[in-house]
Amino acid sequence: MSWITKTFSSSIGRKIIMSLTGLFLCTFLLVHLLINLQMLRHDNGDSFNFWAEFMGTNPLIRGMEVVLMLGLILHSYQGLALAIKNKKARGAQGYIVNHPEANSKWSSRNMALLGTLLLIFLIVHLMNFWIRSRFDAMGGLAEVRVANLDHPVGDLYSVAAASFKIPWYVALYALAQIALGYHLWHGFTSGFQTLGLNHRKYSPAIRFTGYAFAVIVSLLFAVIPVVMFFGDNYQPRPATGNTVEQSLGADPALR
Ligand code: HEM
Repeated sequence: MSWITKTFSSSIGRKIIMSLTGLFLCTFLLVHLLINLQMLRHDNGDSFNFWAEFMGTNPLIRGMEVVLMLGLILHSYQGLALAIKNKKARGAQGYIVNHPEANSKWSSRNMALLGTLLLIFLIVHLMNFWIRSRFDAMGGLAEVRVANLDHPVGDLYSVAAASFKIPWYVALYALAQIALGYHLWHGFTSGFQTLGLNHRKYSPAIRFTGYAFAVIVSLLFAVIPVVMFFGDNYQPRPATGNTVEQSLGADPALR
């Protein structure tokens, strides 16, 4: 067995992969959030579209995007494989003997469930925004002009603004952020621990940063669609009409 196969199949190897990919996904979440917050500016989506264009065309970012996608696939696969292996190892007795509620937090025992909820949301989310903007699929993006750029850019803002007027999508988006918050509540600190970054002096600070990161990031991600749902200022441009329902194949006439 080569060291690569060993790393990918041993429990400790899987844990290290989970922590590296998980912490990498955390850095991506931060960048994503900063760009999403641009949608709340009252500038008709210009700032958001500017940054969406930058992320879609910068060669370095496009390269990182491939790493990110592979990281997400690896993280999901290894996470589910670990969960199945641990369940089998516990056998029929399960957690009863260990009284898990007394010894561990709910979020740490349900990482696979929370991750699966996140994965379902991510598939809907990627179909609506990422596949449409990167591959010109599902009606593609309308083009608009923004300040400081001499060429038109894809109007991703209108896709978001139209999607965030659909009650079920806003609810799904906000609920997914609760799953994200719980996943990170345990995951952020656990990721550092897995890598052996455990120190009497620094661990409390890492734990505090992890809790703050989990709450602030998931809360802000959830607030954006809710504000745009209720706010009259956040409207898609009339020509666009692209929404998550069209992405998922529903008849636009039903809306
Ligand atoms: C933006 C998305 C995500 C982020 C930022 C994230 C982050 C993390 C982090 C930092 C950890 C801790 C790793 C460790 O303990 O060393 C973790 C663990 C875990 N993640 Fe994720 N994750 C995400 C999505 C997912 C998805 C989609 C799934 C699965 C379907 C998933 C399943 C798991 C599981 C099962 C664990 C626990 C592994 C274990 O210690 O046994 N995650 N995640």
